[in-house]
Amino acid sequence: MCGIVGGVAERNIINILIEGLKRLEYRGYDSAGVALINQGQVLRERRVGKVVNLEHAVNEANIEGSLGIAHTRWATHGKPTENNAHPHISGTVAVVHNGIIENYQELKDNLESLGYVFTSQTDTEVVAHLINDALKSTSSLLTAVQQVVPQLKGAYALGIVHTDHPDELITVREGSPLVIGVGIGENFISSDQLALLPITNRFIYLEEGDIARLTRSSIEVFVEGQLVQRPVKELDATVSTVSKGEYKHYMLKEIYEQPEAIQQTISQALNSNALRADFLAEAVADFKSIQQIQIIACGTSYHAGMIAKYWFEQLIDLPCQVEIASEFRYRTPVIVNHTLYICISQSGETADTLAALRDTQQRALAKNLNIVTMTICNVATSSMVRETKHSLLTLAGPEIGVASTKAFTTQLAALMLLVLKIGQVKQSIAVEKMTTIITDLWHTPKVILDTLQQNKDILRLSELFVEKQHCLFLGRGTEFPIALEGALKLKEISYIHAEGYAAGELKHGPLALVDNDMPVVILAPQDDMLDKLKSNMEEVQARGGELFVFADENSGIKGKDRQHVVHIPSISPILAPIVYSIPVQLLSYHVAVLRGTDVDQPRNLAKSVTVE
Ligand code: F6R
Repeated sequence: MCGIVGGVAERNIINILIEGLKRLEYRGYDSAGVALINQGQVLRERRVGKVVNLEHAVNEANIEGSLGIAHTRWATHGKPTENNAHPHISGTVAVVHNGIIENYQELKDNLESLGYVFTSQTDTEVVAHLINDALKSTSSLLTAVQQVVPQLKGAYALGIVHTDHPDELITVREGSPLVIGVGIGENFISSDQLALLPITNRFIYLEEGDIARLTRSSIEVFVEGQLVQRPVKELDATVSTVSKGEYKHYMLKEIYEQPEAIQQTISQALNSNALRADFLAEAVADFKSIQQIQIIACGTSYHAGMIAKYWFEQLIDLPCQVEIASEFRYRTPVIVNHTLYICISQSGETADTLAALRDTQQRALAKNLNIVTMTICNVATSSMVRETKHSLLTLAGPEIGVASTKAFTTQLAALMLLVLKIGQVKQSIAVEKMTTIITDLWHTPKVILDTLQQNKDILRLSELFVEKQHCLFLGRGTEFPIALEGALKLKEISYIHAEGYAAGELKHGPLALVDNDMPVVILAPQDDMLDKLKSNMEEVQARGGELFVFADENSGIKGKDRQHVVHIPSISPILAPIVYSIPVQLLSYHVAVLRGTDVDQPRNLAKSVTVE
């Protein structure tokens, strides 16, 4: 999604802005631009494609300035062209924008009737013209922005500069993330604090509806015209946590970080063989009252929710529904009393999940229903964490690769901790069972480490996928969502068409696809369904399909003609989906590298999907 960086300083900030944009590249984008205010002029450069193209243009033009805004654009309204790239200018006001102005057409018609000429197809350009127009009746840039904001419908974050105001940067947060980086004699803004980590670790997290004025030495935040105080928070993350280190791609680094990430996530909740008393202690009364669970999420996070459904129902007998947020939010689902609504989201900013949450909260309030909300999230400061009553953090550290890996497996670990906690509160899980799962959870990082040792074998298998057009992933039980996840990983980074199926569904349709040219990936942990899965493998082989099997080392499944097997260290069946995520991630990664795709920033995709 679009990314914003801006700053007001004593020094030339062009390199800070460009470096900031590079650090936002992971969000996904198709063009980039920058505008600096210098000696009464707006100096603007914009380029289609990578930030490095913009960097070359900026170097060639040799522009500099101590006040400026910069942007990476992920096209929503209008194609990825230079004219559509931000910043947009009207008169001498320059604007960058993340999000969508839903009523832009109506505003545009009105502005055109006033004589404003549009040079882009974007929704953003209306904001620049509206501010320019408002400046006819006030000399204050802040007042002009405060007059314009109530006219805008939608979700947006804005950065605004003007030649007549060489000492100030105005910013707005309404439905799209925005942080202020607090410096010494300089202040910055960004859609993600990661962009500003080389400069500061002190941040102000703006709230919805905040409008802020930054100068070199001051930060003022206003809500409906009134000055408010927002705390400055210090962040632990350092620059090294967001660098690739020795790895070729962020995705590979993040795959290898999983043992440590899972260790971190479970350590917040577990003693040696029990749940810590303080773990989710504040939620105990709510957990006692709930009678069912509704999970809402998108993409990979939705797959984590699907696995949790098996766990909630099988281990603690609690009914659980899971739904894709983009469907849930629009189908007017019945809001049921005493339900725990769980949002699962790596970023905590996904527009559909956030909208589904807000809608559920409003409808529950209107009907006076007693529901509880919770977020499982990797970003402590995110909108979802702030807007739900309870939260459980996945302590995976920043995830930069667009394809989610360590965020997914830590979501699974967190969900299992939640299942155990609710089971304990409701006394619906036996103590011995809980102790066994906790012991197995502690053991999981080591099993993942051992699984990562199979990397070379998985690389060898991936060579057989390079020329393929299609692929099937099959699993049963909790491996069914891993089959979906494997297919999603493969298609999003290697661009090979892939489908995940519950293996039992094979003869209800997908078997028709199987022929000599169809690779079929099988997820075969040592569980109750193994024999049935072996029958499914026979069905594929009988039709000439080529099998690629990730099988438990004790499963008895061996390699043979057109059956390639990588053995996975034994893990208890209940935690197997965490471990079997690793081979499908590695397979997708290697196939993508061999096919030469942009692994960390696959085409058309964004890391943080802040528009619907
Ligand atoms: C795929 C992937 C996406 C996200 C989805 C939801 O690898 O990462 O499918 O899972 O966009 O994002 P979050 O978890 O941030 O809500």
